[in-house]
Parts: sequence; C-alpha cells; structure tokens
Amino acid sequence: MSEHNIAAVILAAGRGTRMCSNQPKVLHKIAGRTLIAHVLEYVESLSPKHTVVVLGPKMDDVKSAVAPCEVVVQQSQKGTADAVKAAREVVEKVVSGTVFIFFGDTPLIRVETLKLMLELRRARTAVVVLGFHPDNPSGYGRLKQDTDGNLVKIIEEVDLKEAEKEITLCNSGVMAVDAACLMELVDAVHNENRKKEFYLTDIVGIAQNRHLSCDIVVASAEELAGVNSRLDLAAVEASWQEKRRARAMGEGATLLDPKSVWFSYDTRIGRDVVIGPNVQFGTGVTLGDRVEVKAFCHLEGSHIKDDAVIGPFARLRPGSEIGRGSRIGNFVEIKNAVLGEGTRVGHLAYLGDALVGTGANIGAGTITCNYDGIDKHQTIIGEGTFIGTNTSLVAPVLVGNGAFVAAGSVITDDVSADSLAIARTRQIEKTKRASQMRGKSRVNSNKISNIKATKPKSLKSAGTKQEEAD
Ligand code: UD1
Ligand code: CA
Repeated sequence: MSEHNIAAVILAAGRGTRMCSNQPKVLHKIAGRTLIAHVLEYVESLSPKHTVVVLGPKMDDVKSAVAPCEVVVQQSQKGTADAVKAAREVVEKVVSGTVFIFFGDTPLIRVETLKLMLELRRARTAVVVLGFHPDNPSGYGRLKQDTDGNLVKIIEEVDLKEAEKEITLCNSGVMAVDAACLMELVDAVHNENRKKEFYLTDIVGIAQNRHLSCDIVVASAEELAGVNSRLDLAAVEASWQEKRRARAMGEGATLLDPKSVWFSYDTRIGRDVVIGPNVQFGTGVTLGDRVEVKAFCHLEGSHIKDDAVIGPFARLRPGSEIGRGSRIGNFVEIKNAVLGEGTRVGHLAYLGDALVGTGANIGAGTITCNYDGIDKHQTIIGEGTFIGTNTSLVAPVLVGNGAFVAAGSVITDDVSADSLAIARTRQIEKTKRASQMRGKSRVNSNKISNIKATKPKSLKSAGTKQEEAD
C-alpha cells in the first residue's frame, strides 16, 4: 500500500460578524488561547504533512497568530467549497492520503474522534463527514441518509424541504476526504442555491453520483460546539472549564468549589494541591505538589513550588516564582519577583522586580518602589532578612543577608548584611500636650454642637478634631 499522507485545511476567512467585534472571530479566546490555536492543537495530533489556514483579505493579525503555519487568502467569500479551492496548491501536494477540512471556530474536537474519521477514511470511504445531534438543529446543514443509514447528501438549512426539516443529524463542517478525488469533487460544485454560494457540503451528493462511498462519524454536540456569538463563546468556555476541572480532580487536586475555579489551557498542577473557591489561573502558571491556593486568588505567569500556600486574596503577576514552602498572604501582589524557599509575605505587600532570599520575612505593607516614573529597578532582599511593617524599599536597592529593617522605614541606600537599618524620623514626646489638646477640642466641639444641633455626635467630634489639629 502506498504512503498515506495527511493534509489539513482550516477555513477561517469569515470575520464572524455576529461577534460584533473589531477582531476576527478566530482570535477570540477560550481558556486564554485563541480559537484557532485550539484548532491547530488538535490538527497537530494527526501529524499532517501540510497544514494551511484559509483567511480573508486583511487578516494579517490571524496570519501572525498562526505563524509559522502556512496561510492562503480567499479573495472574496463565495462559500466553503470556494475556500477549499483557495488552498488547492497545498491540497494537491498530497497525492495519496486524506485531506481534513476544519473550521477555525470549532475548538473542542477530541483527537479520538479524528482518529475514528481517519480509520473510516482509510477503509475506502471517499468522504467521511463528522455529524452530531445538537439541541437545536436550526442553522445547521442536515445529513440525509438512505434507509440503510448511508449518507446520501448534505442539505443546507435554507434549502431544506418541509419533510427534511425533521432530520436532526447535523453537519459539523469537519470532513475527511480522499486526497485523490477532493479537488475534482470541489470543482464540480456549483452555486445554484438560495445563497448563491459554493457549498463544500455539495461534494457528498456529487460523490454519491460518482459511486464514491460517503459515511458519517457521530460525535457529541458538546465537542462540536462552534463559536458564532459571544454567547457561544461563553458556553464553549464553560464546557472547556468543566472538563479541565474534572481532569484536575482526576489527577489528584482538591477543588473546594470546582465551578468557581478557572484554568488556562496551559495550567499545570501537581498532586495533592488544594484550590479554594474563586481562583483564576491566567496563562503560564505551574503549581508544585501540595500547594494550597486559598480563595479569591488571581495567578498569571507564575511558578509556585511545592508546599507553598497562596492567598486568600493574593495576586501573582507574570514572572513570579514562589519558593518551596513559602507563604503569600492576603492582599499581596507579586510581579516579576523570585522568592526563595520559606519566604513569608503575610499581608498587604507589593513585591515587584525583586529577588528575595530564602527564609525572608516581609512585613505587612512593605512596598518595593520599583518604578521611578521612567524606568523599573530591582530590589534585592537577602536570605533570612526581616523587613519591618510599612517599609518602602526604593529601588535599585539591596538589603544584605540577615539584615533587619525597622518598621516604617524608607530605604533608599543599600543595607549591609546583619545590620539594622532605621530610616524614619525619631519619635518625640511632648509631655501633657494630649490633655491640653483634649481641652481645646472640647471647647470647639461645644461651639459647633450649638450651631448644628441635628448632626450626629460622632461626626461632629471627628470633624472638629480634623479642622483644629495642628
Ligand atoms: C457550515 C456548513 C453547514 C454546517 C455548519 C456547521 C457549508 C456550506 N455549510 O455552515 O452544513 O452545519 O457550517 O457550523 O459548509 N468560510 C470561508 N470562506 C467562505 C465561507 C466560509 O473560509 O467563503 C469559513 C468560515 O470562516 C467558517 C467556516 O468556513 O470558519 C464555515 O462557514 P460558515 O459561513 O460559518 O458556514 P455555515 O453557514 O455555518
Ligand atoms: Ca458557522
């Protein structure tokens, strides 16, 4: 038997007007990745010799998004068969084998389904169509079978006769066609139909007339859900997330409230991880084993090593690396910062563009002042350091290993190892001054209460103190 090669043609020339968007439909995202990238991923699983994406004119943004994948331009959208014609040069490179045709807006197809189609195709079926039973068949082409269940033709919704409207088996758009006859079939398609379009779906009827066999693989409606509107986008996202959550739990993670955890396509999580409610993973996050992410955290572009505890209410931005066993508490934001093992950042801190050594303790309200209005600068915090509450570290600055920084300091110069830095004004005490002030404020609050007798007491005294403070 001669070599069996595979080519994949992905149709994406439409802009997707129902998205009401300035960007092409296939660049909208599911799980942090474009629709077209999801399609390219399952296409890749077939190891095609050639892959080509059919685009419309002025879709350079899609071209860059799919690079280095080959693209061809269909000058005007005259229908799905015409779109395949635009890819003729690539299709004709496959002399013996199968050409798959996909739509760029159908991101959830499983590899197993494609393998079934390929098997059937290789068993001497000229055209294999992927069908499904959607909840609502309106809008889809229908797969018309004879009494033996053979596929005889595909009828587009607008061209359905009354009796054919009862057919519920629909066309997903995906086909696997014998490379030896695809272009001949496509060239025979005409546009004498209601929409005056060249329908790729017509190749089934044409193949039948030429005594070439056609068959159907049926997959679930969920798998074949396409995106035409923002509503569809949300539904497909929800369905992707549901599957991913199940996979996470199947692989040994505890999700306390699965439906409120949102993953990205590339989230990687270790074993015995516990994820609380309302946690969102942006792209590029990895969690080691036994990591706990408490409620309401947003993580993106971050690597969290084994046994670390994050949140609740923490935000990890790109470039964050959290060392083994570290603790990142509530209202902490970390960006482009590498934290060593056992670091503790308990509450209300911002660490940006920083290197933090093993076992450092970062007090509440510590801020790395990393931006001077023009450039970003780095803060280096040594091993075993103790940074007191409400410290501002004005970068570039270094705090040496084992150093202590007193609470409330504004650190503008490097602190050497093992020393204590205090950078705040010294406390002064004015004896008896408090009682004098209290006396003064009582007089004033009496004055005001005489004027505005209806004001609540607490507001009156607070206002007075403010105005009279020296
Ligand atoms: C198509 C099928 C229909 C099927 C449905 C599934 C045809 C004629 N009909 O209908 O049987 O049930 O998909 O969703 O194939 N495209 C181009 N160039 C064109 C026209 C379309 O590249 O000239 C691309 C679009 O960008 C899209 C895909 O082909 O990715 C499908 O086109 P669309 O217009 O959405 O087809 P439907 O009318 O939905
Ligand atoms: Ca469509």
